[in-house]
Amino acid sequence: MTSAPVLDVRSLDTVLHTPDGRSLHVLHGVGLTIAAGECLGVVGESGSGKSVLARTVLGVESRTTRAVATGEVRLNGEDLLAATPARRAALLGTGIAMVHQDPMTSLNPVVRIAEQVTESITNRRRLSRRERLRTAAELLAAVDVPDPARRARAHPHELSGGLRQRAAIALAVCCGPELLIADEPTTALDALVRGRILDLFTALRAERGIALLVVTHDLAVARRIGGTVAVMRAGRVVELGPAERLLETPEHAFTAALVAAEPGARR
Ligand SMILES: Nc1ncnc2c1ncn2[C@@H]1O[C@H](COP(=O)(O)OP(=O)(O)OP(=O)(O)O)[C@@H](O)[C@H]1O
Ligand SMILES: [Mg+2]
Repeated sequence: MTSAPVLDVRSLDTVLHTPDGRSLHVLHGVGLTIAAGECLGVVGESGSGKSVLARTVLGVESRTTRAVATGEVRLNGEDLLAATPARRAALLGTGIAMVHQDPMTSLNPVVRIAEQVTESITNRRRLSRRERLRTAAELLAAVDVPDPARRARAHPHELSGGLRQRAAIALAVCCGPELLIADEPTTALDALVRGRILDLFTALRAERGIALLVVTHDLAVARRIGGTVAVMRAGRVVELGPAERLLETPEHAFTAALVAAEPGARR
């Protein structure tokens, strides 16, 4: 039995309107789906529209550029492009959450980790300081942060890059999102730490059934997280298929070129 996808994107076009009056047609007829507990890796060359796709699904725009999206972006059947701004805001964190390349983008540098990872919880109910620290330590422990009680009291700069990214992931998943979007989540990390973060994503999928959309320019990352890979070029998905198959026997010439350019990706 196949269940309805958590994310269902159809015929998605995104046009950016820049402050200097230019219009950029970035996404062209993008279609993809992700089921609960499944992972989709979006790969492609720089400027192919991967981050714009992630931001269109999340429903956030850069401060200066207006994005106009047409087509369908459905979260559990609900058309997000037709949703009101209030509804979209309500879905952030609880329906869809995002992890950025630089955890400092997700984390506030001047606020302790404990306050941040419990912030969206305290929006819903009041916590005492002790409850906050305990809850934060639990959330950090769930993403395998060692010595979580001490780390909960720390500021982001006191953590290593890998632990900061874990804290950002704890923050992203604390309200139980159904879809987690990660844009180049491991690009700033060394190979060992990268592997551990990718394992953490795998665990989040398996244990919580989170649907995962990972943007990466690194085919080895796409392979490691498994699932399906979408190859983007100039705003279009040119090939979509199981990671193993796509990397072993690419059908599209552009995919083949990507694979050839990154010899480590096939192993
Ligand atoms: N805020 C913006 N204002 C103007 N143009 C933008 C903006 N964001 C993206 N673009 C343009 O949209 C296109 C797609 O950009 P996008 O950031 O999605 O690429 P990408 O695939 O994520 O690349 P990278 O691998 O380098 O992160 C590019 O031509 C880019 O210049
Ligand atoms: Mg990008």
